[in-house]
Amino acid sequence: MPDSSLTPSGQTFEEVWTAADQIPGWMTKAQAEMLDEHARSLPDGSAVLEIGSHQGRSTVVLGRVMREKKGRVYAVDPFIDGKLFGGRKTRDAFEANIRNAGVEDTVELVCDYSTKIRKSWDKPFQMLYIDGKHDYWTYTDDLKWRVHLPPGAPVLVHDCFASFGVTLGTLAKVLPAKDLRYVRRAGSMALFRVEKPSRADRLRILRELPWFVRAQVIKGLLRLRLRGVARVVFGHDSPYDVY
Ligand SMILES: C[S@@+](CC[C@H](N)C(=O)[O-])C[C@H]1O[C@@H](n2cnc3c(N)ncnc32)[C@H](O)[C@@H]1O
Repeated sequence: MPDSSLTPSGQTFEEVWTAADQIPGWMTKAQAEMLDEHARSLPDGSAVLEIGSHQGRSTVVLGRVMREKKGRVYAVDPFIDGKLFGGRKTRDAFEANIRNAGVEDTVELVCDYSTKIRKSWDKPFQMLYIDGKHDYWTYTDDLKWRVHLPPGAPVLVHDCFASFGVTLGTLAKVLPAKDLRYVRRAGSMALFRVEKPSRADRLRILRELPWFVRAQVIKGLLRLRLRGVARVVFGHDSPYDVY
């Protein structure tokens, strides 16, 4: 019986993770596994569109799986100089990381703002990963990329129920939506599908709100340099925010 955890050439998730984990970024191993699992579930020749690539930590996960499927990854990132994450240096690091992971033939960098190119985009893709700018306006615009997806397709969102803008956008635009169903999350990476949600699916979004509040309190404690309190009260043993 075929093992669905292996790509056609037998690449395991652990091998994919080893390549990705050398690259700085915020995605955890459990989140990489979620991306890997859903990319593997796509038919051969499919494409994934990623919004927000930074140095390529998540892009390499997607690229490694899609290369085996003779597919594509569109990596959308403007790499703007002077902005918090971007600039020429980040783009150079991204390109070097993509080359080192051997996925330069699979990953196509689209160096632009997701919000600027969305309306004129005309290439099909079968999975969407949103990890771009986390403010309400950009995120809710990024959700509109789902019109390109076939029914049932996965939409993964990083920093969901962790960042304020993404959580607010999820409550405003996903909770009432008739074509996005919340499935589950790994930390702050949420999985939705382009499907009609049930009442129970909508309720499960609301049930994530205590986790959002916890993430905000931990963030506040870390800003106040009260890491010990975050560890004792919430079991958060890390200098970083909740991802
Ligand atoms: C949190 S980082 C992405 C991290 C990446 N997915 C990883 O695994 O390391 C956010 C990225 O979104 C990019 N970004 C900001 N606004 C964007 C936009 N409108 N469209 C696409 N990317 C954007 C930033 O340049 C930055 O590289």
